[in-house]
Amino acid sequence: MLELKSVDAGYGSFQALFGINLDVKAGEAVGVIGPNGAGKTTLMRVISGLIRPTRGTIAMEGTDVVATPAHLIVGLGIAHVPENRRLFPRLTVQDNLKMGAFMPQARAKFADRLEFVFDLFPRMKERRNQMAGTMSGGEQQMCAIGRALMSDPKLLLLDEPSAGLAPVVVQQVFELVKRIRSGGLTVLIVEQNVQQVLKVVDRAYLLEAGTIRASGTAVEMRESDTVKQAYLGV
Ligand SMILES: Nc1ncnc2c1ncn2[C@@H]1O[C@H](COP(=O)(O)OP(=O)(O)O)[C@@H](O)[C@H]1O
Ligand SMILES: [Mg+2]
Repeated sequence: MLELKSVDAGYGSFQALFGINLDVKAGEAVGVIGPNGAGKTTLMRVISGLIRPTRGTIAMEGTDVVATPAHLIVGLGIAHVPENRRLFPRLTVQDNLKMGAFMPQARAKFADRLEFVFDLFPRMKERRNQMAGTMSGGEQQMCAIGRALMSDPKLLLLDEPSAGLAPVVVQQVFELVKRIRSGGLTVLIVEQNVQQVLKVVDRAYLLEAGTIRASGTAVEMRESDTVKQAYLGV
């Protein structure tokens, strides 16, 4: 579904990603793990078109993402839940959700999508008229994921959805990822919570200093000495 080949990217003269090769097949959940500053967020941004690669190719179902204008990338079926959620705190939950349905196709399906999101998150339905910024961290994460789902994506990019949440809420977020995924969506998820993420993904990539250091099935990654020593504390 998604294929990156030899992707370099960065900010001005600073290079953050070096020769990234990564693929995600339809229906898979794939994780990207790695320390702070490794380039995980940059990788998500380059896939959703917020920044452009300086080298390499990115294809979504065979379409060249790099040649697609940023505002049309969502139309290819890619939805990005950014790090730190980036909701509009003074807008209501429902208005935040509306922001995720700005493409003409999505606008036409707005009522259906809203129902879908409210079914997935009954809490968001209860809170639909509440200002997003006044909700708990877990609720805000639900709202951010809901907003991304409003565009009826094929591929959901999740950037550290569990960051800053209480342990019990972290569990709920990972349960949610499982549910979203069993609903047929393809998921690419960045996480610092390596232990948890390796329980919900099929495969994972280890990103360090802007390069892919290791990749494999979730089981292989759990058993890899590199991953164990650096990220699982065993
Ligand atoms: N907007 C930016 N401008 C300049 N450098 C940035 C910017 N965002 C991130 N970086 C740098 O790019 C590298 C990778 O950052 P990032 O992708 O955010 O890593 P991660 O998400 O794995 O913590 C870091 O060295 C970071 O300082
Ligand atoms: Mg990050």
